[in-house]
Amino acid sequence: MFTETATARRPRLARRLLGSPLAQALTTPHGVDRYVELVKPAFSLRDVRAEVIAVRRPTPAAVTLTLRPNENWQGFRAGQHVLLSVEIDGVRHTRPYSPASSEHAPDGLIELTAHARPDGRVSPHLRAALAPGEVVGLSQAAGDFALPAAARPPELLLISGGSGITPLMSMLRTLCDEGHDGRIAFLHYARSERHVAYAAELRALADAHPNVRLLRGFSAGGTLAAAELDGRFSRDHVHAARVDPAVAPAYVCGPTALVDAVRELWVDDGHETRLHVEQFAAPAPVADPGAAGIASGAIRFARSGAQTANSGGTLLDQAEAAGLTPQSGCRMGICHTCSCRKLEGAVRDVRTGVVSTAPDEQIQICVNVPVGDVTLDI
Ligand SMILES: Cc1cc2nc3c(=O)[nH]c(=O)nc-3n(C[C@H](O)[C@H](O)[C@H](O)COP(=O)(O)OP(=O)(O)OC[C@H]3O[C@@H](n4cnc5c(N)ncnc54)[C@H](O)[C@@H]3O)c2cc1C
Ligand code: FES
Repeated sequence: MFTETATARRPRLARRLLGSPLAQALTTPHGVDRYVELVKPAFSLRDVRAEVIAVRRPTPAAVTLTLRPNENWQGFRAGQHVLLSVEIDGVRHTRPYSPASSEHAPDGLIELTAHARPDGRVSPHLRAALAPGEVVGLSQAAGDFALPAAARPPELLLISGGSGITPLMSMLRTLCDEGHDGRIAFLHYARSERHVAYAAELRALADAHPNVRLLRGFSAGGTLAAAELDGRFSRDHVHAARVDPAVAPAYVCGPTALVDAVRELWVDDGHETRLHVEQFAAPAPVADPGAAGIASGAIRFARSGAQTANSGGTLLDQAEAAGLTPQSGCRMGICHTCSCRKLEGAVRDVRTGVVSTAPDEQIQICVNVPVGDVTLDI
């Protein structure tokens, strides 16, 4: 029988004491976290935080962070994403990243690999400035782009391009850790082998697991000896994968051109219900037939008292252009970090084209554009 030791009980007892009404009262107004984090920065009674354990730079543009989440972390399903928060020049920024690690990684460590965009705010900081020992904010994992938890599929097709490799790497590592013996085909597209963040590990997993078929396509600098796929994604590549899309679930994550090509083929063949899609960048906005009248009116930010003429951009872009710093994360309607109250006016969701005129409603300002006058609670 398992008997809990005094050493194992101690941290939980400490957390109970720190979460007690007495501790809360003694630390008002700042709260317990503010004091304990001075000695243990990753500690929080409720928030998920993680200590950076290691930083690697596997390709000319990528950075791989190994993180140790605190006790509030509830784990993830391979394929899901987390919201990572870092402070840059005193401002907290949040972005979604998909763990690339296995669900079963030892010590509960998770690994994120970010591709540093030269024009980006957060990803270049992760690559250039983050160091072991620092603490970052995390959310709990979220998202439906994930391996089914109940039963692992007997056949599986994973297709990734560029930095889109991360959630699929997590799926592959997880299944290999589980000793899953179903057929797995992994198609990965990159500029060259040098640009593949997990090049050596992918090869090693495919060599060690006869059920894993790895096929790579390189658009530049690839040699025939290194690449198994010729040219851009095509029906021939699916044949080469030797899994049947009529029965195998397929997961695709990567640039829009790759995702669109895969989706088109699956729709043509009537297999779209088995296709799972993840994109790291916002899809093209839905065209608006009445767009001519859209860049009119004014946006009022009630709490700050700021006001700006409607330029037609998203409310997030316009708030930032007006000098405000509303919370934001993915900037594409996924994370809800930017949600705020619209007090009055009409807004159009750029993903669906739907216009909403309801007063006093919660909206995501990164994916809504104003239609005439709008007042926000910012
Ligand atoms: C579910 C999900 C999972 C993801 N997982 C990963 C992952 O595992 N690895 C990975 O590398 N990436 C991942 N991403 C992408 C990641 O979240 C970031 O979008 C990416 O790292 C770029 O962030 P950044 O802060 O460097 O760039 P940003 O500063 O957000 O800029 C991105 C682009 O938006 C433009 N932009 C920024 N602000 C404005 C503005 N005010 N007006 C107009 N244009 C603007 C920039 O010029 C740039 O082209 C994921 C995204 C999602 C949605
Ligand atoms: S910033 Fe993520 S939903 Fe708006």
